[in-house]
Amino acid sequence: MKAAVYTVYGSPEVIQIQEVDKPTPKPNEVLINIKASSITRADTMMRQGKPKFGRLFMGLFKPKNTALGTGFSGVVEEVGNQITQFKIGDAVFGEKLFSNGTNAEYICVDQDGIIALKPDLLSHEQAAPICDGFLTSYSFLKDIAKLQFGQHILVNGASGSLGTAAIQLAKVLGATVTGVCSAKNTALVKALGADVVIDYGKTDFTKGQTRYDVVYDTVGTSSYKACKNVISDNGVFVTPVLSFETLIYSLFKPKKVKFSATGIRKRPDLKALLSELQILFEQEILQTHIDKTYKLEHLVEAHQYLETGRKVGNIVISQP
Ligand SMILES: NC(=O)c1ccc[n+]([C@@H]2O[C@H](COP(=O)([O-])OP(=O)(O)OC[C@H]3O[C@@H](n4cnc5c(N)ncnc54)[C@H](OP(=O)(O)O)[C@@H]3O)[C@@H](O)[C@H]2O)c1
Repeated sequence: MKAAVYTVYGSPEVIQIQEVDKPTPKPNEVLINIKASSITRADTMMRQGKPKFGRLFMGLFKPKNTALGTGFSGVVEEVGNQITQFKIGDAVFGEKLFSNGTNAEYICVDQDGIIALKPDLLSHEQAAPICDGFLTSYSFLKDIAKLQFGQHILVNGASGSLGTAAIQLAKVLGATVTGVCSAKNTALVKALGADVVIDYGKTDFTKGQTRYDVVYDTVGTSSYKACKNVISDNGVFVTPVLSFETLIYSLFKPKKVKFSATGIRKRPDLKALLSELQILFEQEILQTHIDKTYKLEHLVEAHQYLETGRKVGNIVISQP
């Protein structure tokens, strides 16, 4: 089968599409014929071997895991002999956390991992990126920030994968939502449900008069220190991007500053969030925003675009 492979850290050009062995499912795994996959900022980090201290886990001099790709959507083709939750022919979607090989024709996924039945209304392209933006942002809003009905949240980086998901999810949770993005993305952020949109090119939200119950900095371009004056007395600063400053504040002010990573949360907790997301997508309350779609053969170009930091929503690799 065809799969994306990288054997050295580096720029997008280190990626090759190679013929590799088709995997065989273990007793608790399903074999999925991938119809669409996603690439995320996690893939960039794995490919670059950054941050450098991460190489202690990823491989000191070269990557231990040579596969790429995080989100997936496809059809179950084979099941291990202990599979109870899925059957051959099921359309499923999910995520192999930590960039684990979804940019390929087939993958094996543990039935207790991040995998669920794909809502019929969604195409494979729409389903593949759900677990990056939506699962991460739902985890942050519901469990980490504990966003309540009637509260006011500010989402910084409202046009990214996590941001476009967070705007919609915050509305589902009954919050008032302010989105921060550049002028070219204000119409989209408004259309996704933001009550107020701030163009970061014109206005510095940290200097405003409004105080927020939650500041969710999805892109890590702000900080707790910068936002202190716009966070309400019982408010909280949450971010999926770990900086040294956030690490220190989250240790010394754990009620005020919170970092989390989807990959370190317990699988049953993530599965519970995923079930709720599945229903919200089935009811057409949520929608995935896709910026660009590439073929697997053009994965290098997809990574080049991802690396610009300008993507709007998600990048999908279509593998019909
Ligand atoms: N902890 C976790 O579990 C976890 C999980 C998933 C992702 N992440 C991390 O979360 C971060 C966000 O990922 P993502 O995929 O959502 O990002 P992304 O889609 O790559 O973000 C790109 C968007 O950010 C906007 N942006 C850039 N600079 C900005 C600024 N100064 N203010 C506001 N918006 C700005 C860009 O819009 P303009 O072009 O208009 O500026 C663009 O639309 C990444 O660092 C990723 O590694 C963490």
